[in-house]
Amino acid sequence: MKILRTIPEVREAVGEARAKQRTVGLVPTMGAFHEGHLSLMRRARQENDLVVVSLFVNPTQFAPNEDLSTYPRDEARDAAQAEAEGVDILFAPAPDEVYPHGFATSIHVAGITDVLDGASRGAHHFDGVATVVTKLFGIVRPDVAYFGQKDAQQVLVVRRVVRDLDLDVRIEACPIVREVDGLAMSSRNVYLDPAARQQATALNRALDAAQALHDGGERDAGSIRIAALKVFKDAGIHPEYLELRDAETLEPVADTTRDTLIAVAARVGAARLIDNHLLKGDA
Ligand code: PAF
Repeated sequence: MKILRTIPEVREAVGEARAKQRTVGLVPTMGAFHEGHLSLMRRARQENDLVVVSLFVNPTQFAPNEDLSTYPRDEARDAAQAEAEGVDILFAPAPDEVYPHGFATSIHVAGITDVLDGASRGAHHFDGVATVVTKLFGIVRPDVAYFGQKDAQQVLVVRRVVRDLDLDVRIEACPIVREVDGLAMSSRNVYLDPAARQQATALNRALDAAQALHDGGERDAGSIRIAALKVFKDAGIHPEYLELRDAETLEPVADTTRDTLIAVAARVGAARLIDNHLLKGDA
């Protein structure tokens, strides 16, 4: 596996593969790999000739009060894990390679970024994501890019950018990978002390409660939400948001007859965690 730091190096390496008609898969990441990231790399490895993983803790998607400076970073460990998954290129640029002096462009997706994490973290968050992901697509020019469904809203934002800007890349969303007790894997789980780690299981338990009601035939979004909120109350957690929204448009829903995303964000101990389930509609 090659570790590359500059855009021209990546262009050259990918260009050589393209010249031989090889397919290119990209896994965009911010490092601190866990099984979720590795599952994306495995999928990319199965489906492409050349696999590129980007490792870049993107400053523009963090608000000033967020955890940019403390975000877990261990490039040597990440590189070893990526290599073990058969990744061909790890693109790990410095911030000024991605955002050189005078950088002035930002991509804003309207509408779907106003709610959930967009409302909770601020508009800059998805602008930062959309901008850096579009840059990565421009640098690597992958055939396919792989994202985790844990960031369900991010997947919708990226799909919208690709559609609206006619970018020639296929987006694959891969299933959430969970710990044995159901906690969704996240680089931020390292912030949890043992008590908070235990408390954090409430996120998936609440979503499971919602899922069980839906699977049992309940379709009223309000009743499903109340059942999930009860799990949080019992766990002593006050979610930042817990919402049921149309899985495509993120419009609020009154019932779950169409595919519905139930999404949650909550502060647990020192971590801000998110999770979601897809409630399959009747159609
Ligand atoms: O999901 C992430 O890790 C990041 O938001 C991404 C897609 C790599 C963009 O910085």
